[in-house]
Amino acid sequence: MASGSNWIAVISREIYLNPRFVQDKIDRMLYTLLRPLLFKLDPESAHCLTFSAIEHARKLGLLKSVPVACQPRKVMGLDFPNPVGLAAGLDKNGEHLDALAALGFGFLEIGTVTPRPQPGNPAPRIFRIPQANAVINRLGFNNHGADRLIENIKRSDYQGILGINIGKNFDTPLEKAVDDYRMGLQKVYRYASYVTINISSPNTQNLRQLQATDALDHLLNQLKSEQNKLAQTHGKYVPMVIKIAPDLEAGQIESIAALLMKHQMDGVIATNTTVSRAGIEHLPVAQESGGMSGAPLTQRATAVIHQLHCLLQGAIPIIGAGGIMSAENAREKIQAGASLIQLYTGLIYRGPDLVREVAQAICADQVKQDDSLSVQE
Ligand SMILES: Cc1cc2nc3c(=O)[nH]c(=O)nc-3n(C[C@H](O)[C@H](O)[C@H](O)COP(=O)(O)O)c2cc1C
Repeated sequence: MASGSNWIAVISREIYLNPRFVQDKIDRMLYTLLRPLLFKLDPESAHCLTFSAIEHARKLGLLKSVPVACQPRKVMGLDFPNPVGLAAGLDKNGEHLDALAALGFGFLEIGTVTPRPQPGNPAPRIFRIPQANAVINRLGFNNHGADRLIENIKRSDYQGILGINIGKNFDTPLEKAVDDYRMGLQKVYRYASYVTINISSPNTQNLRQLQATDALDHLLNQLKSEQNKLAQTHGKYVPMVIKIAPDLEAGQIESIAALLMKHQMDGVIATNTTVSRAGIEHLPVAQESGGMSGAPLTQRATAVIHQLHCLLQGAIPIIGAGGIMSAENAREKIQAGASLIQLYTGLIYRGPDLVREVAQAICADQVKQDDSLSVQE
């Protein structure tokens, strides 16, 4: 057992090494206390309450942003202060950029936003499965539309890397999907650091068919030429990435990788939520329809990243998402070939502390790797 003075020495050292040590401990304690209360509420009410608490804390000056110490990395021509981002769907309308930035993310992705506002599917439409650290959602792109999202961005002070994830309206026929994506791209282009083309949500009927070879070839062809026009008009090139599903077969991933190369896409996000229920079939609410995220998705998403990495050979960066619930899960995604990673469901089960935990671990790995390379040289 350490003596009293030893404990003081240990804690002083921790504070010296990590100035946020005390704040991190308080944050962790608060979330441990709050979680049972939040989990008593239905997920959408818990979501609203959490954001209103975070916004209040920020306005009272309790949420001070201390960046994670990290070697910035250049991906898609952008300088990421740390490689851990917020995945799309948590802030669909870009209403909480300043509060989310204070949690320590290296980048934020907002949306999915559609050209016109739409209400999404009827509630209940989010289900927690705490026994498996999973969530099923069938929100169906509920959002206030691209114009409102832009107003929110203009109102915020956020200066960091901002991904804007675009989709099609539910009532736009699939044959006209390109028009929605083109309109979305035109609207958000000048406000985005990068734009994500979401063709993998399971909650908009037939959307995932856009991942099929001919449909994707056509979509990417049209959007690439629009991106080039917009780059001329605005005098800046905004990278464009596509977000794919974890439920694709090996052959489909191969075709997608070939199209990413053909159209010189800037990146790919792997993965969105899964329609599979493998391993959790027996649990309550597992049979609800929608996309599942969280721990049961971890391995499958990593396998998709690995396959993509083998096919792309580093030519196109991969942003890894899907079931990152710990630093170890994040490490596996990086080792499989991801240049950046994103979280969502981990925040629900582990709290905002997860962001710094993951970022610090990956950044420390990077330092070790750089050190060992310089020793070898
Ligand atoms: C409630 C909820 C809503 C989501 N909404 C979107 C969305 O609008 N657009 C999108 O591309 N992905 C959306 N996602 C998927 C996440 O961005 C992420 O790709 C997926 O959940 C896997 O990561 P995770 O296991 O860390 O949550 C959503 C996920 C959840 C749980």
